[in-house]
Amino acid sequence: MTSKTADAVHFFRAWLSEPLRVAAVIPSGRALSALMVSEVSPEMGPVIELGPGTGAFTRALIAKGITEENLALIEYGSDFAAKLNLYFPRAKIFRMDAAKLHDVVLFNGVRAGAVISGLPLLSMPPRKVLSILDGAFAHLRADGAFYQFTYGPRCPISRSLLDRLGLKANFIGHTFANIPPAAVYRIRHRKPRRTPAQRLLQLPLSPDGQQPWPWDRRSNDR
Ligand SMILES: C[S@@+](CC[C@H](N)C(=O)[O-])C[C@H]1O[C@@H](n2cnc3c(N)ncnc32)[C@H](O)[C@@H]1O
Repeated sequence: MTSKTADAVHFFRAWLSEPLRVAAVIPSGRALSALMVSEVSPEMGPVIELGPGTGAFTRALIAKGITEENLALIEYGSDFAAKLNLYFPRAKIFRMDAAKLHDVVLFNGVRAGAVISGLPLLSMPPRKVLSILDGAFAHLRADGAFYQFTYGPRCPISRSLLDRLGLKANFIGHTFANIPPAAVYRIRHRKPRRTPAQRLLQLPLSPDGQQPWPWDRRSNDR
């Protein structure tokens, strides 16, 4: 059996025993892995990966120039964590619940440029999603980004949760070349809002003189 087939079998068994936690019957394919890391570059290291499973996105991150030493892999499943230790011996592997990210020191306090999340957020209660996002953004640089995929029709993080944390989500892309097809979103901090005084002093008006320029009013913003 090739290691890819062995991973697929391992994944399927894990799904059979804990369908809600694993939330997929086979590991993500190449197209989705490529989409997940499409904006990642070596300067964004260190990078945190949540729910790496058998390492589909981890391999894509390494192919993008993120070294194993610059990777923290947060995985709840003990079987998956054991496999990750074998495949990526120089990465920092934490067998833990991603909702407890706040409690760990990952890279001696150096902040990450990106979080790549394969977590099944849609099957988690909002309170848990809140803890995960809160912990992840505590480990990210101010301009860092959180990448999340979903099999659903929209961003798996609700508008109210994004608002509560001062975040915005942008659609990055969709692929049919995955079982099942999936979409990827980038979640970032919103730019600080200008105060009315700042707006009066600095903001140029649109040609009709009525509205500020719509520079952050993109159709796919949430
Ligand atoms: C949909 S699978 C994705 C696996 C892999 N990223 C991929 O795309 O093939 C979800 C993964 O998240 C892990 N997971 C689920 N809940 C978790 C949690 N609270 N903390 C850490 N990992 C979790 C599961 O064990 C599984 O590895």
